Amino acid sequence: MKSEKYGTGAISEYALLTETLVVSKPKNLNFVEAAALPMVALTAIQMLDKVPGGVEGKTWCGVGGCANGENAYGAEKVITTVSTRKIPMIDEFLGKGVVDEMIDYTKVNPAKTIPQNSIDVLIDSIGATFSSLALLKKGGMVVACAGPPCSGRDLKNISTDVPFLVEKILNLVNAVVRWWVGRYQVRFDTVLMKSNGGALERIKMWVEEGRLRPVVGTVLKFVDLEGIKGEGERIMMGKGGVGKVVIDIIAD
Ligand SMILES: NC(=O)c1ccc[n+]([C@@H]2O[C@H](COP(=O)([O-])OP(=O)(O)OC[C@H]3O[C@@H](n4cnc5c(N)ncnc54)[C@H](OP(=O)(O)O)[C@@H]3O)[C@@H](O)[C@H]2O)c1
Repeated sequence: MKSEKYGTGAISEYALLTETLVVSKPKNLNFVEAAALPMVALTAIQMLDKVPGGVEGKTWCGVGGCANGENAYGAEKVITTVSTRKIPMIDEFLGKGVVDEMIDYTKVNPAKTIPQNSIDVLIDSIGATFSSLALLKKGGMVVACAGPPCSGRDLKNISTDVPFLVEKILNLVNAVVRWWVGRYQVRFDTVLMKSNGGALERIKMWVEEGRLRPVVGTVLKFVDLEGIKGEGERIMMGKGGVGKVVIDIIAD
């Protein structure tokens, strides 16, 4: 490759990619910073793109720490849930005023603190869909990347190797969830992130314009298996550190 690229390769020394899955790296980021972006930013974009008409001018609540929508998407009001120690970090990392309301989920129950019928869009990354339905306005929308499973169709969209029965069962479960959520006159969809060169270009543009930036947490060497295992265990406990874990595969 003649220029520096970034894309989603996940954790591998070598990956075969088509040219649509990598784009030029944002000029103002190094490789470690760029590596922190695709998984989380593509997931967020694909979740927000599911909202009919977009989130511009809408009240948006991210449960599970998703927040940076005002800068890139023009949301009217952004609410997010965080743990106590991360409250001061929100303004520091996202910029002052990007988040309108922060709710410390370790002290209060967001489902009981946010007024009912007050949210247009709920972005769910912790499986809070069912407990949050009453918070949504009629005609609102929940987009989940964790919790209720994706449909078999979505799974087939990222993998051709999905057994027929698994696909059908997932479609059925997804239909039941949509029906249940629909009883509140709320729409529901899930996202299973799929790499996409067009979206990577949008992320690059926002980063170069200063509207979006990665937050890098722990950086580990590819050979540091114990460190990687430890970080993996922490993530599996559902306790996010600050920023994304990056595994640096470039040998010293
Ligand atoms: N479908 C997809 O394509 C896709 C793609 C990417 C990620 N995901 C899924 O999305 C989920 C989140 O991923 P992530 O990378 O953002 O994880 P992460 O970095 O571990 O972040 C989880 C966040 O949730 C917060 N949290 C934990 N319990 C909470 C609660 N009860 N109420 C409110 N917030 C709570 C944590 O806050 P504290 O650290 O302050 O406790 C942390 O900020 C994971 O389940 C992951 O598998 C799905």
